[in-house]
Amino acid sequence: MGSRSTATSDPLTRVLRTRRELRAALADSRRPVGLVPTMGWLHEGHRSLFARARAENASSVATIFVNPRQFNEAADYTQYPRNEARDLTMCRDEGVDLVFAPSVDEVYPTGFDTIVHVGAVGRPLEGAARPGHFDGVATVVAILFGLVKADRAYFGQKDAQQVMVIRQMAGDLAIPTEVVACPTIREPDGLALSSRNVHLSSEERAAAPVIHRALMAGRAAWDRAERSADPIRSAMRSVLSEEPLAVVDYVSAADASTLAELDRLSTPALLSVAVRFGSTRLIDNELIDPS
Ligand code: PAJ
Repeated sequence: MGSRSTATSDPLTRVLRTRRELRAALADSRRPVGLVPTMGWLHEGHRSLFARARAENASSVATIFVNPRQFNEAADYTQYPRNEARDLTMCRDEGVDLVFAPSVDEVYPTGFDTIVHVGAVGRPLEGAARPGHFDGVATVVAILFGLVKADRAYFGQKDAQQVMVIRQMAGDLAIPTEVVACPTIREPDGLALSSRNVHLSSEERAAAPVIHRALMAGRAAWDRAERSADPIRSAMRSVLSEEPLAVVDYVSAADASTLAELDRLSTPALLSVAVRFGSTRLIDNELIDPS
């Protein structure tokens, strides 16, 4: 771990610990500014966001903050993997200009008393399965948007509902940062990269690609001109049921702009699943766009 008090740890990538240090560094940054919020334990999915932010903006800012307010289970928060030194190496390799890695007190100072709650789009799926989760996400991202005042912010389509919640929040609160959704990065066997994959046992890791196979079965049904949503959900469930270690949380075929469950897939649709392997809960999705 680097010194927690210095604002500069490398001539190229500066690490900021406080709101004040961040504000000062941003004042010297060229615009446009691209922001990538993360919770650390960085992987190739995060790297793709850094590369995009850097390519499309004059300055790039990453944030590394394990946000306690978005964990609905205390153990999930304490066990969330952390390795700041390794994360900073990736940020440097990717040429990220500023890394904001604050303490919990810096983000939520004494007296902090606001919750940002997004309505309908945050209610189903992850919102239903993880009460309070999106309040925590929307609140911390609103703070980060307010602090960084980025021109663009980059998020992974892997967390499709999160992107929708953040877009709704930014639009409603008149935050001018453009929310950019980026493709999901996968392992060669189809498993979406996730910081949580580290918790999988070797048996669970071997089983986890069933998630992507299930989504591909849903897409294959669509490609065969199936337009009723139930057979598409069944196709996904059937693949998941072949894997004994996979415990299904939900299987969804929803309208891609409202996340309402569909009877027929006629609009852009989001196929999504949440599956537990032991104590590790993984999510993934596939966007079906008839156009
Ligand atoms: P975290 O899980 O660290 O993810 C940070 C960003 O990386 C998110 O936008 C996420 O969708 C994206 N990401 C994760 N896995 C990806 C993959 N395989 N391919 C492409 N992008 C991927 O999501 C969060 O943190 C937090 O909720 C946060 C937005 C930082 C708020 O605390």
